[in-house]
Amino acid sequence: MRVIHFAAECYPVAKVGGLADVLGALPKYQRKAGITASVVMPFYNKAFVQNNELEIVYEGQIQQGHSLYDYHVLKERSDLLGFELILIKIPGLLDREEIYSYPDESEQFLAFQHAALNWLCDTNLRPDIIHCHDHHTGLIPFYIENAKQFAYLKGVPTVATVHNGQYQGWQNWDSAALMPAFDTWRWGLLDWNGLINPLAALIKCCWAYTTVSEGYLHELYTRANGLESLFKAEQDKSYGIVNGIDTDVWNTLTDPMLNHNFSQAAVKKGKEISKKNIGEQYGMDETLPLFVFIGRFALEKGADLLVSVFESIFENLKGQANFFVLGSGDKNIEASLLKIQKQFSQHLALFIGYNEELAHQVYASADFLLMPSRIEPCGLNQLYAMRYGTVPVVHATGGLKDTVIDMNEGGYGILFNDITVSGIAEAIQRALQHWNATDQKQWTTLRKKLMKLDFSWEKSTRKYTELYNKLIN
Ligand code: GLC
Repeated sequence: MRVIHFAAECYPVAKVGGLADVLGALPKYQRKAGITASVVMPFYNKAFVQNNELEIVYEGQIQQGHSLYDYHVLKERSDLLGFELILIKIPGLLDREEIYSYPDESEQFLAFQHAALNWLCDTNLRPDIIHCHDHHTGLIPFYIENAKQFAYLKGVPTVATVHNGQYQGWQNWDSAALMPAFDTWRWGLLDWNGLINPLAALIKCCWAYTTVSEGYLHELYTRANGLESLFKAEQDKSYGIVNGIDTDVWNTLTDPMLNHNFSQAAVKKGKEISKKNIGEQYGMDETLPLFVFIGRFALEKGADLLVSVFESIFENLKGQANFFVLGSGDKNIEASLLKIQKQFSQHLALFIGYNEELAHQVYASADFLLMPSRIEPCGLNQLYAMRYGTVPVVHATGGLKDTVIDMNEGGYGILFNDITVSGIAEAIQRALQHWNATDQKQWTTLRKKLMKLDFSWEKSTRKYTELYNKLIN
C-alpha cells in the first residue's frame, strides 16, 4: 500500500509544534508495518535542507492567478528519516525561513497544494491513499474530485487528520481566482459562512476524518471554532486515533540530547543528576521538586495563566518548589514571564525560544510537568514527560484526559477540571502533597510505572492501517 501524507510540518525538517512530531514518526512506523509512506511538504530554508543532500526529481510550472510559478520537487537522498521525504520548492514563495505567519500565507499554501498535485499527475503517481493533515492541506480532497486538471487522481481515497481545529485557514472569496479551475457549481464545498474555509472543505470532501484523540473528537461536536455542526454532520466518517510517540527518539538510555543517559532501573539517580545539571545552569536548588511547562505561549495552552499562578504560588509556597518554563509565542506573555522571573529568579527559570535539546533535558530533570491547556487535541508533551519518568499535572481535556489517569483513581498523574488560576494552583498543591507524603522508594516505583506506559506508535499505526483498508475496499 502506498500512502502520501501532505502536511506543513515534519520533524526534524521543520517544526513548530506536535504536528511535526507526528509527521516525523507515523510514516516511519507505517513503513515498519509494510506500508510505503511518503511525506510531501513545502520547502523551508532551514538547517535541515542546508545540511542534507536533496535531489531535484521533477520541475514544473503552475499558474496562480496572474502569476506563473516554477516549482521544483526535491527528494531527500539518504533515507535519513526512515521514509521518503519530498519538498516542494517555489522560488519566491516556498523557499523562506519560517513555516507560518507571512502576510501571503494563504497564497503559499494554495501554491503548495496546486504544485504537489500537479507533480503527482504529471508523473503518474497515483497512491492508494492520500492523507491530509490540518487546514494547510485541506483543499486537496476538493481539488482531486472537482478540478479537471487533477482528474488522474479522482477516486483516490482521502483521509483527513485534525490536529488542531482552532485554525481553519480562512480566506475571502477573492482567493478563488488563485485556485486551479474547478467545477464552479461545487463552490459550496469550499464555503463556510461566506468565507473559503479549507478545514471545512477538508472535512466535507475527505472520505474519512480522524482526530488525534477520541476525547477531542467528542469535544469538536460542541467546541470547534464555528465548525461544530459540520463535525457533527459528518460524524459517520469520523475516527479518534490517539497519537503515539517515537520511542526511538524518546529513550532516556540512548537520547543524544541528554547530558546524562539512564535506564529505567536507574531512574532515581538519573533524574537526580539531570536535575542537578539544570539547577546549576539556572541557579536553582536541586533538592526542591521541579515543575516544568514546555510549549507555545498561547491561550490554547493556558500560558497566559502562568504568571498569576506563579504570583499566588510564590507567595504561599515560600520556596517549596521550583519551576522551569520553556517556550515562546505571545509577546505579552513573554514580557510578563520575564518580569516575574526576575522577581523570583531562585525559583523560576525561563528560556524563551524553541530548543529541542533543552526540552529533552528538562523532561529528564523534571518531577512534574504542568499542562494547563484549555484545548489539547492530543498533547505529546505529557507523553514525553511520562516516558522520562515525570508526573503529569494536566487539565482534564481532549487527549490529556485520554492519556493521563489520576492518582486518586489508581493512576499516575494529576488531572484537574478547573482551568483557572486557583484551579491550577490547587493542582500544584496536590502534587506537592503527594511529593511530601511519598517516600523515595514509592516515588521511584511511580516513575518506573510512568516510563513503562505504552504510548508507542505501533498501536495507532494499526488503527490507521485498518481505516485505510476499509476505504480501499
Ligand atoms: C497539535 C495539537 C496537539 C497535538 C499535535 C499533534 O499541535 O495542539 O494537541 O498533540 O497537534 O497531533
